[in-house]
Amino acid sequence: MHEMQPISKDSFTLRDDLEGLTPSRIATLYRRAPLIRQTDNAEKLKQAYDQSQLVLSVWEGERLVGIARVLTDGVQVSYLCDLAVEPDVQGSGIGRLLIDEVMERCKGTELVLRDSNLSSGFYEHLGFTTVDNGWARKS
Ligand SMILES: CC(C)(COP(=O)(O)OP(=O)(O)OC[C@H]1O[C@@H](n2cnc3c(N)ncnc32)[C@H](O)[C@@H]1OP(=O)(O)O)[C@@H](O)C(=O)NCCC(=O)NCCS
Repeated sequence: MHEMQPISKDSFTLRDDLEGLTPSRIATLYRRAPLIRQTDNAEKLKQAYDQSQLVLSVWEGERLVGIARVLTDGVQVSYLCDLAVEPDVQGSGIGRLLIDEVMERCKGTELVLRDSNLSSGFYEHLGFTTVDNGWARKS
């Protein structure tokens, strides 16, 4: 993935590097959003981010306010692992900004994800359709 110049929208800055993305900042954002994920092991959380092809973050100054993490083969399929926005700035367009940038970066692939009850309306509003043939097995 190529490095991007930060994009600024209102008082928010969108970045695609891992700078400042500490496990504790990520865990705090997940907890507050809320996004239910395993965050108790900081090393594993860091590994998950290090090993993802695309990580986008949105900052209000020094404060992390939004994040999207994606695994992709770049040609057929992309998986949106995590998407979270700080509650006090939800509704400001940050989620849409993140999804638009993911779609642009993963153009030509099908973006799939697991949603939560809180966010299904968001995905529907942004033009996603549900799939009814999904399966999962934990290893
Ligand atoms: C879901 C989430 C990422 C949306 O982010 P956001 O920054 O609040 O969304 P935006 O402000 O960009 O909203 C974009 C559009 O979607 C709409 N929207 C947002 N949340 C919605 C919802 N739950 N239901 C229906 N529409 C919704 C907005 O009204 C807006 O519409 P508009 O652009 O036509 O005016 C955010 O609410 C969040 O972090 N939720 C908790 C964590 C979560 O559920 N993550 C996803 C799990 S996979």
